[in-house]
Amino acid sequence: METKNLFASRSLCEISDFTIDERKYLFRQVRTLKKAIHDRDEATMDRFRVKDPDFGIYEVFLEDSTRTKESFRNAADFLQVKVNELNTTVSSLNKGESFADTFHTLTGYHNCIFIIRSKVEGLCRWLKDDCDAYAHRNGLPYRPAFVNAGDGRHEHPTQELLDEFTILEDNGFDYDNLHIALVGDLFHGRTVHSKADGLKLFSHVKVDLIAPDELQMPDNYRIKMEENGFEVRSFDSIESYLAQGEISTMWYFTRPQLERMGEQVLQKADMLRASITFRKEFMDKLKPGTKFYHPLPRHKLHPTIPTFLDNTPLNAWERQSINGMYVRICLLSLIAGQTGFDYVPPKQVAVGEEEDYIVEVDLSKHPVKEKMVSEGVHPIKNGIVIDHICRGDSPSDIRDHMRLISRVLHLDEAKGGEWVSCGHKAGEEHTYKGIIFRPDARELERKDLKRLAAVAPGCTLNIIKDGKVAGKYRLHMPPRIYNFDDLQCSNEACISNPAECEGVPAMFYRTEDNLFECAYCGRTHTFKEIWKNAK
Ligand code: NCD
Repeated sequence: METKNLFASRSLCEISDFTIDERKYLFRQVRTLKKAIHDRDEATMDRFRVKDPDFGIYEVFLEDSTRTKESFRNAADFLQVKVNELNTTVSSLNKGESFADTFHTLTGYHNCIFIIRSKVEGLCRWLKDDCDAYAHRNGLPYRPAFVNAGDGRHEHPTQELLDEFTILEDNGFDYDNLHIALVGDLFHGRTVHSKADGLKLFSHVKVDLIAPDELQMPDNYRIKMEENGFEVRSFDSIESYLAQGEISTMWYFTRPQLERMGEQVLQKADMLRASITFRKEFMDKLKPGTKFYHPLPRHKLHPTIPTFLDNTPLNAWERQSINGMYVRICLLSLIAGQTGFDYVPPKQVAVGEEEDYIVEVDLSKHPVKEKMVSEGVHPIKNGIVIDHICRGDSPSDIRDHMRLISRVLHLDEAKGGEWVSCGHKAGEEHTYKGIIFRPDARELERKDLKRLAAVAPGCTLNIIKDGKVAGKYRLHMPPRIYNFDDLQCSNEACISNPAECEGVPAMFYRTEDNLFECAYCGRTHTFKEIWKNAK
């Protein structure tokens, strides 16, 4: 019986696209390959080789690169597949062509794995589905795969793979504990952002974030780390880190990304750099066995890891860079379907049905008190009353949000009003909630209820007929919000933001903390922040 290769044609847009178990499998492959290359064991090396001139990689780099681009190119050469490169300085992207049209064209020409680097966040995630549809409607006998080689400040999943592999080499492949210090430009660095999910590879994780305020880890990634169970501490400089007792033996440096900084931050560049640059005088504070990592490049004039450290046992960044080649060979070989047939995934825990977030109240079992129809508002004969809006927020926030709800449900033209009321029970005198009433409002359809749940989770919708509550729904937070044309990710660099002009519809997934994460760039929002022109 032929087994399905779970890696063939897979895309890697974010590190979590490969499960922990799949990454562990990949790392076993990398160990085998690395050893084979060092031992010149041709037979083992050959098992990885795809040897197909009609298959290959297509590199599309819209930002500069040395290691990522060249290691992928050399990896493809090793695998004996074709290497194509889009010359982005003279491509039609510069004539205003969309990413969708550009990649459709390339999809039609070549059965390949696209390796893409750009400043547009979530680009690969979008292209993966979009080019899949293109290949399908044009009857192409293959589906393209996409590998994110760095998208703006979002993620750099293949760097994460090689970082993880190098760390594992240094800790004897111990997946149990990791204590790591992340030092440098944590604000702009996509390689450290990938660590928020990437380090879930280890069972117990302690992360020390060392950066001045201007370069500290963005909240959404720090929160994600905490949600993932990591113990997270912050320090504003290497000096303050070394002044306390719990110093890690693994330091991961990142370069200050001046090209992504605004004028205000740039003015302080020297001062910021000083706080994250290692100095000779720090040497005797380091613990024995300490290793320094760096995705590179480091600046020739202002290296945060000074060159006098190159020839010391601290240097793990050179091996890390070399490992990039081995990791990418194995990754491409898996996606090409050459290796990976023997991978058996762990048994899946059955996932329940998608929860129902629109709950109709059975009025025969839960009769409605008459005061419901009239509370705080004029009794209405026919129409709708939306109750329990933003319960617990301040009256002014509730009022602002009710305006948004009316707009989103297209109820702003209808007659009626809004009301803020406070609790009646003891202890709830200062707990406010909003009520929207719309006499003679149009009937709400299922799609309206979905919109209402998305914009006012926790509310209750009452449908009033002849002065009585004829229908009642409790609306909870949806697990996914999509398919509404007035949604918008607030990240201007996101592929789904209208600023990118690609017409990519926004889509959000609910997180454990009841926030909504953009399906493309991962930016988190409250349910109030996902609407066009939201505050
Ligand atoms: C990094 C990148 O481009 O994100 N480099 C790399 O791929 N090795 C880090 C950086 O640019 O500083």
